[in-house]
Amino acid sequence: MSNMITATEFWAEQAGRLHWAQPWTRVLDWDGAPFARWFAGGTLNVAYNCIDRHVLDGHGDQVAIHWEGEPGDTRDLTYSDLLADVSRAANTLAGLGLRSGDRVAIYMPMIPEAIVSMLACARLGLVHSVVFAGFSASALRQRVDDAEARLVITSDGQWRRGNAAPLKAAVDEALAEGDSTVEHVLVVRRTGIDTAMTSGRDLWWHETVANASPEHEAQAFDAEHPLFILYTSGTTGKPKGILHTSGGYLTQAAYTHEVVFDHRPGRDVYWCTADIGWVTGHSYIVYGPLANRVTQVVYEGTPNFPDEHRHFEIIEKYGVTIYYTAPTLVRTFMKWGREIPAAHDLTSLRLLGSVGEPINPEAWRWYREVIGGDRTPIVDTWWQTETGAIMISPLPGTANAKPGAAMTPVPGIHAKIVDEDGNDLGDRDADGLLVLTEPWPSMARGIWGDPQRFRETYWDRFASAGWYFAGDGARLDADGDLWIMGRVDDVMNVSGHRISTAEVESALVGHSGVAEAAVVGAADATTGQGIVAFVILTAETADTGADLVHELKAEVSREISPIARPRDIHVVPELPKTRSGKIMRRLLRDVAEGRELGDISTLVDPDVFAAIARR
Ligand code: WT7
Repeated sequence: MSNMITATEFWAEQAGRLHWAQPWTRVLDWDGAPFARWFAGGTLNVAYNCIDRHVLDGHGDQVAIHWEGEPGDTRDLTYSDLLADVSRAANTLAGLGLRSGDRVAIYMPMIPEAIVSMLACARLGLVHSVVFAGFSASALRQRVDDAEARLVITSDGQWRRGNAAPLKAAVDEALAEGDSTVEHVLVVRRTGIDTAMTSGRDLWWHETVANASPEHEAQAFDAEHPLFILYTSGTTGKPKGILHTSGGYLTQAAYTHEVVFDHRPGRDVYWCTADIGWVTGHSYIVYGPLANRVTQVVYEGTPNFPDEHRHFEIIEKYGVTIYYTAPTLVRTFMKWGREIPAAHDLTSLRLLGSVGEPINPEAWRWYREVIGGDRTPIVDTWWQTETGAIMISPLPGTANAKPGAAMTPVPGIHAKIVDEDGNDLGDRDADGLLVLTEPWPSMARGIWGDPQRFRETYWDRFASAGWYFAGDGARLDADGDLWIMGRVDDVMNVSGHRISTAEVESALVGHSGVAEAAVVGAADATTGQGIVAFVILTAETADTGADLVHELKAEVSREISPIARPRDIHVVPELPKTRSGKIMRRLLRDVAEGRELGDISTLVDPDVFAAIARR
């Protein structure tokens, strides 16, 4: 209990970094656990905290965003520019009749209007649901329906390696069948490609937002007012709409952005290479950094357009001091060769960050030596969509970071390693499941429309202790430092993207030629894990060759996203199942990774394996 009191005092102090219209009356209300209320009674406006107060403090001319378009066009947005643009967008959205609490889907590439749209929603108390622009029309539709969005904001197209690919067309496809809750589609012209507009429903940004008033007074909302929903994969085929609210979320996003990255406004040029379609983009491009008056780089395109020098040119051009990326990109840089970064002056860098998956020691060392010139600390940050902000990371001041270790919970956060039954395994030499033992301000407030699933997924497992089960395995070493080992459930991690085996399986069996499918994540030298599928064909399917495999891969790309495209698909006569009918993924993983088969004694038909392993 004394622990709890200290914790609430600590977080109350952190909340002091924000501007509150009305102070809170209670730091933490955990009476309705696992649904927390932080800073109860307080009111604030999230967008005001990210923009207006910096302008009012005399920093209107500071660049907030150095935006770099893929084709080479650039835009610098100061805090005053951002205030005017967000105000225009807020006036337009309010003019469309959107009211506090309404949901807005944002399906956009990495252009300034995407960030402006998120902040305009926050300003009006609208709940945004950003859908990664690499997701398919059907994935978009599923998310629009689940959240009952009234508006979709998108762009005509997006630049991808020099090509203008349509995007608005996917919105049309998503909304084509059956009734949807969407009343309007707001479209930014980005690529200039031909774009069909449905009259009465579709609006151009440049004909509406651009002409709206740049004045808008932000109104304060309750600390627990919903800020956004972000869908993430779980162990079933249906993505979970993770709900985050305002005061606690912004407090922890801002706090961690400052202490983990040692960020100081006016000194640093920060660059987080994530996409706003993921939580990293929400917490460490939009909310945390802007609350801390960052000057940051936002880049629209891929790291190898027009060539592999692009990221290093950008670091050099803007004098980036803090660079935050995913291990998969570091491994890609390693493959491209050290002469590419060596051709650039990277001495402005003073801190490197890693997120999304465990970083292997070899990649860690290369990152530090080749990109960081053997000078920079590396912060390996562990967290999740559900945690909202960084939970476990070394702090840059402490020089003892170990290659591949996420080290220790940040001040204010409490973690433990426990066994399957919830026994505490101590604070040295322990190997088990990672749990979080105390509530934290940026914790998810639920799964949109499904409170029961929230309880079951994260809280039921260790209900008597009241711990949050993260779904990751972890190890405490002899010094008491944490190493995250990866997911212990049926969730894969491909290039830092979280994809459930069930989602890919359901896309595969959606194809008429497939009777049954089992999917596993297999170790992959570049992407961390690669998706490997085993399929049984229907009796009518004659084609078992390369064409069909190709077609099935394309089907998964279409149904979910190219990021979910299987690396390998094996056509098999049978799947290994236990007597209770459960597919033995462990064995399939052994096959996929080319290992000796483990224990197959519980299989119904051990011969199945001989047939599969031969392929
Ligand atoms: C899962 C969460 C956190 C934002 C990006 C991913 C894995 C994340 C690390 C890390 C080892 C990591 C975990 C976690 N993960 N960061 N530094 N070391 N694993 O967010 O899509 O919600 O995925 O990513 O397995 O549970 P997400």
